[in-house]
Amino acid sequence: MTPEQAPWWTRAVVYQVYPRSFQDSDGDGVGDLGGILQRIDHLADLGVDVVWLSPVYRSPQADNGYDISDYQDVDPAFGTLAQLDELIAALHDRGIRLVMDLVVNHTSDEHPWFVESRSSTDSPTRDWYWWRPPREGMTAGQPGAEPTNWHSHFSGSAWQYDEASGEYYLHLFDRKQPDLNWENPEVRQAVYAMMRWWLDRGVDGFRMDVINMISKAVGPDGSLPDGPPLPGLPYGDGTPHFSNGPRIHEYLQEMHREVFDGRRESLLLVGEMPGVTPEQARLYTDPARAEVDMVFQFEHVQLDLDGDKWHPRPLRMRDLKASLGRWQAGLADVGWNSLYWDNHDQPRAVSRFGDDSPRFRRDSATCLATLLHLHRGTPYVYQGEEIGMANFPFTDLAQFRDVESLNHHVQAVAHGADADEVLAAMRRMSRDNARTPVQWDGSPNAGFTTGTPWIAVNPDHAEWNVAAQLEEPASVLAHHRRLVALRHEDPVVALGDFTMLLPDHDEVYAFTRCLDGDTLLVVCNLSGTAQPLADLLPEAVAAGVVLGNLAEDDPAVLRPWEARVLRPSR
Ligand code: GLC
Repeated sequence: MTPEQAPWWTRAVVYQVYPRSFQDSDGDGVGDLGGILQRIDHLADLGVDVVWLSPVYRSPQADNGYDISDYQDVDPAFGTLAQLDELIAALHDRGIRLVMDLVVNHTSDEHPWFVESRSSTDSPTRDWYWWRPPREGMTAGQPGAEPTNWHSHFSGSAWQYDEASGEYYLHLFDRKQPDLNWENPEVRQAVYAMMRWWLDRGVDGFRMDVINMISKAVGPDGSLPDGPPLPGLPYGDGTPHFSNGPRIHEYLQEMHREVFDGRRESLLLVGEMPGVTPEQARLYTDPARAEVDMVFQFEHVQLDLDGDKWHPRPLRMRDLKASLGRWQAGLADVGWNSLYWDNHDQPRAVSRFGDDSPRFRRDSATCLATLLHLHRGTPYVYQGEEIGMANFPFTDLAQFRDVESLNHHVQAVAHGADADEVLAAMRRMSRDNARTPVQWDGSPNAGFTTGTPWIAVNPDHAEWNVAAQLEEPASVLAHHRRLVALRHEDPVVALGDFTMLLPDHDEVYAFTRCLDGDTLLVVCNLSGTAQPLADLLPEAVAAGVVLGNLAEDDPAVLRPWEARVLRPSR
C-alpha cells in the first residue's frame, strides 16, 4: 500500500466516547449528548479523526445501551435525535467523523420486534429470534431442559424459558438481550434499512458489536448443537457453533452491497470480533472481499487470564510480543487491525499493563501509549486513557453497576466460590473500572456532573484530571496529542512494515517500522528497572529522537518505563 493509495483511516486515530460516563449536562448524574457537545473542543485539541460513540439509542439500559429497544431514536437519558444531529454537525465542522455503535446480534427484550415475537407462536416476527422447544424428553422449565447446553456471556444458560408459549429464546448475553435470527431475510433487510437511515442522517460508519456471532450453526432441521462442557459449570461452550459461523461472510458481504455500496470510501466499518484469528481477520478485512475495514480483536487482552476474565494472572511479556507480533505479521500484506489497550469492557490500561503507583503512573501510561500508537493499525483512545485514568479502588459490592460483574457475583457465589475472592477479581477485572466518570477537573464530582453521578468518581481525580494536564507539556494528555500528530505527519507510522526485535526479552519491547527506505526504531522499557540499551540495541544509541516520553538524558540507558521513537541515521 503506498501512501497515495492508502485509505484515510490508516492515518486516523479513533476516540471512544462511552456517553453515560463522559459528561453530564443536565445534572441527573448520567452523561449525555449535551455533555459531549460541551466537551467537543477536548476532542478537537487532541486531534483525533473519529469518534466512536457507544450506544445512545432508546434502551431499558440493562447493559448500558447494548440492549436496544428502538434503533432509530435516542434514549431520553442521553438527549434527543436533534442533539445527535447537532453533534454530527459539530464534529464534522471540526473535521471529525462520527461512527455509531451497531448492536444487531441482539435487541432488547423490550424492542417491539421481540414483544411481537413473544406474543404468540404464530406471530409474524416469531422467527426473527431463536425460539426452540425444550430438549426432547425433558419437561420445559426444568434444569437441563434448555434446547442446548450453551452458557451465556452474562448469566447461566443462554436460553430463557417463556412460560406463555412453553418455548425458550436464545440470548448469548443477558436474558434481556435476545439474539436476532439472521437466517431470516426479513431481519437482515430490517437491519440494513436502519443502517441506511443512519448513513443518510450523516453518520460516518459503524462499530459492529460482536458481529462475528450473528451466524449460528443451525442444522437443516432447525436444531442447534451442544458445545463442549465447561469445567465446574453445568453448561457447555457454544462458541464453536456461533463464533465466525457458517454464513458470516455471506451476511457481511450482503450488508456491504445493501448498505455501503457507492459510499464506502468515506466510511469506517469496524467489526468487533471476540475469538477471531489473524487468518480469519484477513478474510474479514481484505478490501477485495468488501466486508469490514478492520477487526477489533481480543487476543492481547486475554493473555493475562487463566481460563476466564475472573481469573487474572500475571502477563508474560513474551506472550504479549508473540501475540501482537503475530497480528502484525498476519495482516502485513492484506487486511487491517484496530490497536487498543482498553475500552468500556476492559480494566484501565495503566492499571493492567502499566504501573499505576504514583512513581510510575505518568511514565507507564505514556510508554504504553507510545508502544500502541507506533504499531501498524488504527489506534483507539478510550475516554480518560489520554490522561492516564486508573482502575477504581472498589471495596464493596454496592459500588458496582455492571450487569456482567453483578451476574457473575451471584453465579460464582451460588456455585460455591468465596465471596471475598470473587470481589477481589471484580476489583481488578470489572468493566466498571473503565466506566467511572471522566475526570475533567479537581472539583468534587470531577466536573462530570452537578448531581449525583450514576457510578462513583474515582477519588484520585483531585490529582488526575484534564484541567491539571491541559497546559502541562510533560502530561499524559500532551503526549497523546503528540502521538496523534505523529501518525498524521509521518507515513512510516501509518504504513511502515513492522519487524519485532528482541522477541524473548522480558522487559524491553522494541520494533522497527520501515517504508521506502525510511526507518523508525521504537524502544520501550515496560518495567520499573533501567535497561542497558547500548548492549541490547547499540544502533539505538546514536539515533535521533523523534518522540520520547521522558526528557532526554543518557542515550545508552533506557530508564524505567521510558519509550523512544528513533530515526536511525541512514
Ligand atoms: C460487546 C460490547 C459490550 C456488550 C456486549 C453485548 O462486547 O462491547 O459492552 O455488553 O457486546 O452487546
